[in-house]
Amino acid sequence: MAELTLPKNSRVTQGKTYKAEPGATRVKSFKVYRWNPDEDANPRADTYEIDLDKCGPMVLDALIKIKNEIDPTLTFRRSCREGICGSCAMNIDGTNTLACLKPIEEVKEAVNINPLPHMPVVKDLVPDLNQAYAQYRSIEPWLQAETPPPPDGERKQSVEERAELDGLWECILCFCCTTSCPSYWWNGDRYLGPAVLMAAYRWIADSRDEATGKRLDALEDPFKLYRCHTIMNCTQTCPKGLNPAKAIGKIKQMMVERQG
Ligand code: SF4
Ligand code: SF4
Ligand code: FES
Repeated sequence: MAELTLPKNSRVTQGKTYKAEPGATRVKSFKVYRWNPDEDANPRADTYEIDLDKCGPMVLDALIKIKNEIDPTLTFRRSCREGICGSCAMNIDGTNTLACLKPIEEVKEAVNINPLPHMPVVKDLVPDLNQAYAQYRSIEPWLQAETPPPPDGERKQSVEERAELDGLWECILCFCCTTSCPSYWWNGDRYLGPAVLMAAYRWIADSRDEATGKRLDALEDPFKLYRCHTIMNCTQTCPKGLNPAKAIGKIKQMMVERQG
């Protein structure tokens, strides 16, 4: 992928305002970050007035309405529209969350919408996730075992072993947590961040996986794991209600236990 340009000035200026149609009764303003690196020196915030009586209830509904009916140049990612794919992650009203799960009603004033923070922007609300995906690949997120599987091919787990994965497997890799983590903002090139560390723990905790030692060795590094200072932004922001900080704590605990 070509190297991404950065805005000359990251200050966001006021852009265009698209007024609601005459006769609209329940008008809400959406202030949306706009930046096209091919055309714009700096980002701006465009304001779109929407009649909520003619819009679905979620912030993603408003964005789709804007793109379909007002401004087709607005760019954002989405797919499932039900909190499963993780692609509509963005910063809404100051919090990283999924646009498809965020009710418009929860935002009292104008709805401010920005891309996930501290990531390069491809265009508008689309962040460049290449680094985060490369970090995910680096933890080898698949089952590794030397023991051949039983003849029926199923590696069974007890109910208790399977329960160890609850709260981990549900992660949809939206990176809301990683992009809310101050340690990742400053050291994202070397610190793996909460989403990837929780994914690493998901395999460490899996009773069928036989690569625990290798996985812990790979994380034994002053930056990859130990840049987490338990600030907890990650857990507070996760739109799926997961607890990546707890998973990171468990990895650190395993590191101590194997030394002692
Ligand atoms: S607990 Fe760790 S991973 Fe989570 S926000 Fe804080 S420093 Fe980042
Ligand atoms: S832990 Fe939560 S916020 Fe982080 S990537 Fe997974 S689902 Fe998203
Ligand atoms: S569109 Fe898939 S999580 Fe929002």
